[in-house]
Amino acid sequence: MADKSLIAAAVEARAKAYAPYSRFLVGAAVKDEYGAIHAGCNVENAAYPQGTCAEAGAVAAMIMAGGRKIIEAAVVGGGANLVTPCGGCRQKLREFGAPDLAIHVCDESGQIKRSFTLEELLPSSFGPENLIP
Ligand code: THU
Repeated sequence: MADKSLIAAAVEARAKAYAPYSRFLVGAAVKDEYGAIHAGCNVENAAYPQGTCAEAGAVAAMIMAGGRKIIEAAVVGGGANLVTPCGGCRQKLREFGAPDLAIHVCDESGQIKRSFTLEELLPSSFGPENLIP
């Protein structure tokens, strides 16, 4: 069962997105091991590659608050297609998420379009354990 407040936080974050170039608003939220929810939105930049994704903002907020594990995640975006995390954001989620981490991909109203596990989105991934000699 998806956490409704997690998805609501992502919907709310999307409303704050700064996306004057793409006009593609995205919100994301992650729940940490303490049950706290952290949200982020995409923040674009006139120097286009410097823009950051909503998931990156949510992960940074979690780290600032002291969370170190992602228990559940949600991404909210518009359009007909699924707004799945980009490749870089999959890796960012991977740093703090288990393979069975649920990532809910939602429409702008917060309706879940599809839920994935992290393993589905980023199979055979590289993570902190891979650095152990
Ligand atoms: N974007 C996100 O914030 N998260 C995603 O999961 C996909 C894409 C942003 C980046 C950029 O600001 C805009 O959406 C268009 O790519």
